[in-house]
Amino acid sequence: RKRVLSGIKPSGELNIGGYGGALHQFVNMQNEGYDCYFFVPDLHAITVPQDPKLLFQRSKSVAAYYIAAGIDPKKATIFIQSHVAAHAELGWLLETQAHFGELGRMTQFKEKSGGKESFSSALFTYPVLMAADILVHQATHVPVGDDQKQHLELTRDLAVRFNHRFGTTFKVPDPIIQPIGSRIMGLDDPAKKMSKSNPNRNSYVLLEDRPDEIRKKISRAVTDSEGTVRYDWEAKPEVSNLIEIYAVFSGESVAAIERRYEGIGYGPFKQDIADAVIAKLAPMQSRFNDIVESEELLSILRDGARKAAESAASTLLKAKQAMGLLSLN
Ligand code: TYM
Repeated sequence: RKRVLSGIKPSGELNIGGYGGALHQFVNMQNEGYDCYFFVPDLHAITVPQDPKLLFQRSKSVAAYYIAAGIDPKKATIFIQSHVAAHAELGWLLETQAHFGELGRMTQFKEKSGGKESFSSALFTYPVLMAADILVHQATHVPVGDDQKQHLELTRDLAVRFNHRFGTTFKVPDPIIQPIGSRIMGLDDPAKKMSKSNPNRNSYVLLEDRPDEIRKKISRAVTDSEGTVRYDWEAKPEVSNLIEIYAVFSGESVAAIERRYEGIGYGPFKQDIADAVIAKLAPMQSRFNDIVESEELLSILRDGARKAAESAASTLLKAKQAMGLLSLN
């Protein structure tokens, strides 16, 4: 069976970019019958400084958002990365195979380290742990946003390199990057990825935003002076970004959206986008509030950790044996 694995870091409040590129795809793939593993990569979050109390809370929040968005713990395995030691353990084994040079070429690393020397060494090896997350579960499909493409290429390279050196051990996974929604840009500037780290609060919509905030932010989104709702990233990046957001939240095609707003200006278009976003987020928020502090969530995570540990054990052992590490069984 095809196996899906992916995760969202608990490093800040989730925004609709992560929903478009990741979460909404997670739900679709689960419903298409894939064998799904969705986890909270807390070990990746701590590669940059985190407030321990916030991290603790956010790990629960991400897991609760998975469920609130429609991931069914009876169908998918939901777990916290640090609860399954095999991830970090395989991460170390793979670090022995990853090259210093190739890690230095990762654009996310270059952005996050920002030319300084005081970043953590884990920020540098971050993509190797990500490869371990994927390979330890023999995932075949990894749904991600466009910004993770390079990390997925490295994952594939490491799998192929390891298999070549030590014998076939890992499946070589395919990234799943949707044409629409995998690159949601800031509402203030379509050249920058929508991100919680933007100091301008109006540049992003959070999954936790209230309806009036969502309306306000979308009504303030930058557009152009042409006044036609047309999908064209070259000529109309602002409007194209809004069309993608609308397509993700309404489930409609880009062509259907273009047709509906022919001869109509941006005002009604923006109101309808806000309505579509609110229609998805409001029920999600109420489910989130019901589960985030529940005993049920902890029990789902306990179950998930057990299942994920079982899934990872045989691959980890195989990798160790392939490398010649002494094993006693
Ligand atoms: P993270 O936590 O930064 O983002 C989670 C997912 O959301 C996508 N995403 C976006 N998609 C579209 N538009 C945006 N503006 C936007 N912002 C974020 C990301 O591409 C990602 O898919 N390294 C990963 C976490 C990770 C992981 C893994 C993912 C760790 N191990 C194994 C898959 C498999 C990350 O930092 O994602």
